[in-house]
Amino acid sequence: MEKYQATAIAHPNIALIKYWGNRDHEMRIPENGSISFNLGSLYTKTTVIFNPSLEIDSLEINGIQTLNSGLKRISNFLKIVREWTSTPYYAQVISENNFPMGAGIASSAAAFASLSLASIKALGLFLTEKDLSRLARRGSGSACRSIPQGFVEWLPGRDDQESFSYSFASVNHWDLVDVIAIVAKNHKSVGSTAGHALANSSPLQRVRVADAPRRLGIGKNAILQRDFNELAEIVELDSNLMHSVMMTSNPSLFYWEPATISIMKAVPEWRQQGIPACYTLDAGPNVHIICQSEYANDVVNLVNQITGVLQVMVSPVGGGAYLVEE
Ligand code: DP6
Repeated sequence: MEKYQATAIAHPNIALIKYWGNRDHEMRIPENGSISFNLGSLYTKTTVIFNPSLEIDSLEINGIQTLNSGLKRISNFLKIVREWTSTPYYAQVISENNFPMGAGIASSAAAFASLSLASIKALGLFLTEKDLSRLARRGSGSACRSIPQGFVEWLPGRDDQESFSYSFASVNHWDLVDVIAIVAKNHKSVGSTAGHALANSSPLQRVRVADAPRRLGIGKNAILQRDFNELAEIVELDSNLMHSVMMTSNPSLFYWEPATISIMKAVPEWRQQGIPACYTLDAGPNVHIICQSEYANDVVNLVNQITGVLQVMVSPVGGGAYLVEE
């Protein structure tokens, strides 16, 4: 019997202006627009095989069969793929990452971006970048930002058709790097999906969302002008605002570890001393330190001196999702 198979690679992305909270949870229509860049040295490679003889979907991550919530999420997404493409077949999904999962590095973004592209190709179909981004969004909101290359904006839109990402500056536009300080390797206790659902229970979310277009405008302009100081101020403000919402949600989400705070205090001091760097955090304790590539070694050396830093990874700006020949 014929099988329908393809493999794709996608990079995770780091948001400089964050997505937190949905106006439609099921469709993953966000409350506000966001901007990010892809992390070129980190990737997820996903092979999908639609097979007429299968009776359920299956998932293997880094060589281990995954059941429970991980499989359920992939299977829910494959159901959407089946609806979009009128395919009746179940699929085997085989995924591998070169970075730790569940620790504030958006593994779901690279996973659903690569799975979207591989699924469409496996079924012999083609989608525009916009529609692939819309499809990836249904698996994980931030995944829609891992489809286009380089520096990316997610237009929030008001419905499924309007909510997608596009590249506003290419990979080579600005040689920023993300120096990722890992301070905890365990799986996070409350994941992003549950976190988004709590956002509106914080009295601060309304204020954060109302001011988001202003921050996004400043952040995007700073990237286009390659103005690091302007970018640094707005990136740290945006991350602090999101974590303020998290901490004041009910129940409250407190992701930081002591080493997280040490880094957050150190980075603005480095900036004052002439090392242009700024911090941003996702839904976890690890700290992403953004700087220009010429300062990456200095930042790595400095962050390695901070107590509680377990590992440091460095990534330049990366391309969009792409197919791999098998
Ligand atoms: C804090 O995209 O992981 O990283 O749509 O539920 O999969 P789901 O959430 P997810 O949320 C990312 C939140 C964030 C900020 C960001 O990347 O913009």
